[in-house]
Amino acid sequence: MSELSVNHLLGIKYITEADIQLIFETADHFKEVINRPIKKVPSLRDITIANLFFENSTRTRLSFELAEKRLSADVINFSAASSSVKKGETLIDTVNNILAMKVDMVVMRHPNPGAGVFLSQHVDASIINAGDGAHEHPTQALLDCYSIRERLGDVAGKKVVIVGDILHSRVALSNIFALQKLGAEVKVCGPKTLLPKFIADIGVGVESDLRTALEWCDVANMLRVQNERMDISYFPTTREYTQQFGVTKTLLDSLNKEIVVMHPGPINRGVEITSDVADSKQAIILDQVQNGVAVRMAVIYLLASKIKHNEN
Ligand code: CP
Repeated sequence: MSELSVNHLLGIKYITEADIQLIFETADHFKEVINRPIKKVPSLRDITIANLFFENSTRTRLSFELAEKRLSADVINFSAASSSVKKGETLIDTVNNILAMKVDMVVMRHPNPGAGVFLSQHVDASIINAGDGAHEHPTQALLDCYSIRERLGDVAGKKVVIVGDILHSRVALSNIFALQKLGAEVKVCGPKTLLPKFIADIGVGVESDLRTALEWCDVANMLRVQNERMDISYFPTTREYTQQFGVTKTLLDSLNKEIVVMHPGPINRGVEITSDVADSKQAIILDQVQNGVAVRMAVIYLLASKIKHNEN
């Protein structure tokens, strides 16, 4: 297979294992490109991409912009905070006005789950979901799985525990779908109040004790408590959360094996992981960020190939 089965990247649940493997093989090539002295290829000189961010972002926004520029695409950036959205313009009107400027692809982060799917049904452009509420964050899951593959050789057969606020996390859901499609075994660990009720129904194990979860896994993906999505208290205090679900170097060193520690960022140092864990050799947090550019280049390149193929 040399092309994706989809015209948009709206979520991991809509793509196949073959799509993911194609993205990884393409990312391998782009990873080599971005380590050259000249980090740019002319592949997408005829493509214009709009980055629409209706929610805050550091890593995803910069990573997409860099990936687009490394591919020589024309790039426009839109931030809701400084736009006419503030004057009441709808999402479809905003996007159609941007598309009227001959834009081929839209990368969108939005607080509402399903915003990317909605947009893909109403506008004539390829849509990449850069995070929609607590629903999906597909490129984060792809770069996470790519980083596991890089560190451990393969994702198939690996045991991965996702720790923390699963309920409010788009990263958790996309990671679960991607890891399962690639043949990994997945468990979650966190306060009962922060685990979705459907979790067992999607084939994910639950472990309430962090030490037991870490003894079981090859990889621990540590998630931030997403206070911005909480309107009530889900655990007594941050101190108690950290005591039960925070990873310290002492805890890691006391395990009977060396595990890989991941974090999608932004990190709350001293809450879900201590600084000595975040900065340790076991943590691949900055590898994830670096791989994000190559993986996003691959996604953009493969979707743009479909645009060009559909035009011919
Ligand atoms: N991992 C991630 O999505 O980070 P940002 O919110 O900074 O983009």
